[in-house]
Amino acid sequence: MKTQVGIIGGGPSGLMLSQLLNMAGISTVVLERKDRDYVLSRIRAGVLERGTVDMLRKAGAAERMDREGHPHQGCYFSTVEGMFNVSFRDEVDEEVMVYGQTEVTKDLYDAQDKIGATIIHDADNVTPHDITSDAPYLTYEKDGETRRVDCDFIAGCDGFHGVSRKSIPDNIRKDYERVYPFGWLGILSETKPAAEELIYANHPRGFALASMRNDNLSRYYIQVPLTDKVEDWSDDAFWDELKSRLPEEVAAGMETGPSIEKSIAPLRSFVTEPMRYGQMFLVGDAAHIVPPTGAKGLNLAMSDVHYLYEGLIAFYKDGDATGLDKYSEVALQRIWGAMRFSWWMTSMLHRFPDQSDFDQRMQESELRQMLTVPSARATMALNYVGLPF
Ligand code: FAD
Ligand code: DHB
Repeated sequence: MKTQVGIIGGGPSGLMLSQLLNMAGISTVVLERKDRDYVLSRIRAGVLERGTVDMLRKAGAAERMDREGHPHQGCYFSTVEGMFNVSFRDEVDEEVMVYGQTEVTKDLYDAQDKIGATIIHDADNVTPHDITSDAPYLTYEKDGETRRVDCDFIAGCDGFHGVSRKSIPDNIRKDYERVYPFGWLGILSETKPAAEELIYANHPRGFALASMRNDNLSRYYIQVPLTDKVEDWSDDAFWDELKSRLPEEVAAGMETGPSIEKSIAPLRSFVTEPMRYGQMFLVGDAAHIVPPTGAKGLNLAMSDVHYLYEGLIAFYKDGDATGLDKYSEVALQRIWGAMRFSWWMTSMLHRFPDQSDFDQRMQESELRQMLTVPSARATMALNYVGLPF
């Protein structure tokens, strides 16, 4: 099989890239290791930046989001001293969209089906070859056969555990990493959200986040030790712990019920540089991971897609390779901005195992600054709604 852009990974970044390129008349083949139901069973991000929303509209995949998504004008922070709101509308005249990654992925699959894009599921052992030549190709195994896709470029959209990043030789790649000494235990429940906007809580017992998907679907997270297992946490134990970390007035009125999903995610900051090797470009989680505090992971994957798409369009339409040559540098600038924000939010809101009283006061002071200093609130809001592309 021959195509212009071979895409490894059918998560949100691979699908968005494929959709935009196909709409511009550039052919793609997406190779996804799992089946579609598996991809759609993952519960992940919930907050979309303006740039992501705009891209979904451009991709013709925004109709349901515009109907069912919930624009949010701000969020709450909760501390031992009380709860306060940061209004994105007042600070930077922007908003975010609450709409789950699962729905985004489903809408992108539907959009891809509509235009007849090629997505090959259950593609095992996907391997990039001759990446530094001008005739790279991918091989994969399916139904007991090895198959080949020749292409001009490879887009590595295959997430943190994918094959593309590992195909860049160690002497060319530099990894930057911080692993945090805790995880997030998350549940989804068919209950009314605790508040009309998200609550990020700093509490002596640990971080908590009250989020949502819609009026009858809530998403909650609590910080847990890395040694905890999902089986250690009954629904009742989760609700008790969550309530103890949220403001009393919120906890008192909170609706609880059975969880319909429960999982633990470790927290990590990770960046690999450069994001290009020969004819292969890394996109999204394949190149970087942020801790979820701040809701940047999916949005960052989408800004990578934006830069790569622009570069590919300029190359195919005008023979101009500047965008592709600058892809890694330009994408990384925005990535490091989101890394800083996610690290700052994580550091300010979580209880670290070796946290001293001094560290505790620093967190409280950082939060109080947001409450009392308008420019601190504006900086938070600007980063939360997303730095410009
Ligand atoms: P992925 O979504 O990881 O997609 C990669 C795709 O490639 C997958 O479908 C995978 O099956 C496929 N693949 C992998 N290897 C291969 C291979 N060798 N061959 C072919 N296909 C392959 N972000 C937030 O903003 N908020 C959150 O609350 C949040 N929670 C998260 C919870 C978890 C458990 C995880 C893992 C991530 C979370 N994220 C969150 C991050 C966010 O979900 C990711 O940033 C986003 O999914 C990145 O999209 P992607 O397309 O780059 O990668
Ligand atoms: C969600 C996850 C986040 O990491 C975050 O910062 C906000 C919301 C969510 O899953 O709803």
